[in-house]
Amino acid sequence: MQIPDPALVLLVGAAGSGKSTWAAEHYRPTEVVSSDALRALVGSGTADLDASNDAFEILDRVVTGRSRRGLTVVVDTLGLDAQRRAAWAALARSAGLPTVAVVFDTPAAVCRARNAARDRPVPASVLGTQLQRVRDVRTELEAEGWEVHVVGGEASEPSSLGSPASSSSTGSSAATTTPLPTMVKAAKTGAQPSPVLPSGAHGPRVMLQISRFPWGEHPLDWLRGIALAADEAGFAGLALMDHLIQIPQVGRAWDPIPEPWVTLGALAALPTDLLLGTLCTPATYRPAGIIAKAAATLDVLSGGRAFCGVGAGWWEREHSAFGVGFPSTTGRVDELDAAAETLRALWAPGTKAYNGERVSLPETTCYPRPVGSLPLIIGGGGEQRTLRIAATWGDACNVQGDLDVVRHKIDVLRRHCDEVGRPRDEVEVTVLDVAVVGSDRDDTWTRVERLRGRTKAAVYAARHHAGEVAAHRERHDRLFEAGVGTVFLALPDLAGARDVERVAALARR
Ligand code: CTP
Ligand code: MG
Repeated sequence: MQIPDPALVLLVGAAGSGKSTWAAEHYRPTEVVSSDALRALVGSGTADLDASNDAFEILDRVVTGRSRRGLTVVVDTLGLDAQRRAAWAALARSAGLPTVAVVFDTPAAVCRARNAARDRPVPASVLGTQLQRVRDVRTELEAEGWEVHVVGGEASEPSSLGSPASSSSTGSSAATTTPLPTMVKAAKTGAQPSPVLPSGAHGPRVMLQISRFPWGEHPLDWLRGIALAADEAGFAGLALMDHLIQIPQVGRAWDPIPEPWVTLGALAALPTDLLLGTLCTPATYRPAGIIAKAAATLDVLSGGRAFCGVGAGWWEREHSAFGVGFPSTTGRVDELDAAAETLRALWAPGTKAYNGERVSLPETTCYPRPVGSLPLIIGGGGEQRTLRIAATWGDACNVQGDLDVVRHKIDVLRRHCDEVGRPRDEVEVTVLDVAVVGSDRDDTWTRVERLRGRTKAAVYAARHHAGEVAAHRERHDRLFEAGVGTVFLALPDLAGARDVERVAALARR
């Protein structure tokens, strides 16, 4: 059972069918709005029917507020009132949220027994009517446009029948009798699957991209911890972000952001099999020949484990602050183009003069040379030029975006490959994936709330695919199926080695 998330989730079921229990098992308490709970809040208790109007007024306000913010809301009422359903559905649809109805097809005998065991049972005739209505409501729900899911039915054994006292402590019997729903990101429209590119000679792999360095008093210990944990988890490599000042998307300007080639040198000394490189080094910071020298040195020191990501650079502030020129966008892409060509020239065997398209060098005497072929990754999804540069000079491109965006970039890259006469499978597609990974639903949303800054929670969560490890793994599967060779996973709340261990299930492919 796959329930879209975020969504407006309407529970539909007779008294005692297990709605509230199910909601508590699958959603955060703040995501569930229950007419019974609100009756208790504004009235004398859950069964205070005189408090119904007040309770539903609040319930409607909650549904309005949460759907307007794009947040999941689980409506825990009987779900049998068509007028109320229509109003909630309209709220959700105007906010772009999917409308999901979860129908509790719990055997009548189970509901009756649970009801009878309650302090204030619903009259038997009322329960009988509810049970009849639930049986008939499915077609109505479908006609109203709800995506209908059914819980229970055949699977619910009378043995799951529990007295309030015994079951309220665990409330977990549903887990064994009904299929667990998986929350899935609400389906997006568009983008046909593109034909698949081979995912590089190495097969699909995941590397960790490090963009923040909260290393406290012991930088090297912190780095060692991250690297050993990443290696142990089975990540294929580490990529370091290359910036002169910490970027606002990641942290504060006074947070440490180390020079990556120096830092990679320290990582190269550790006993790991990790590939090591940058994602990405702006072509603006250093003359291309100096990048070639640094990467070749790293390759030699690490026994051939280096890769080099280069991009055009984008943040004016850090350039000004460090006295580094910041040309126009066109100028920077020109620099990237020339840098890629220079790297190729200086990493090639021999010392002969190089006369190329943008670059001429009187000699190419660059020792030490890389151990083998040193992978060059061209960062950026610019379709006219950046992907062209990747097709011309790169071993890989690096793009960011959801599956449909990535598929489109793959198509554009392929066209460039065809035009420059490069075999398509020679240029790997890599994706930078900045992801919020939680241990459970509550942990995930706590992280979103901590990280989102002034961005709306629902927007931040969607942008960073906030979810649990299994959901991220599945999402990566889709990327690999689309032809992606390497996913660079970045954790916006990476604090230390423990976070690497926490996402270890994403490492090995
Ligand atoms: N229960 C259970 N096993 C389940 C589901 C529910 O033992 N799989 C028990 C609950 O612990 C509770 C009772 O059955 O004591 C009714 O479940 P509840 O979730 O409260 O049902 P609702 O549909 O929410 O009932 P109501 O409409 O009365 O709120
Ligand atoms: Mg309930």
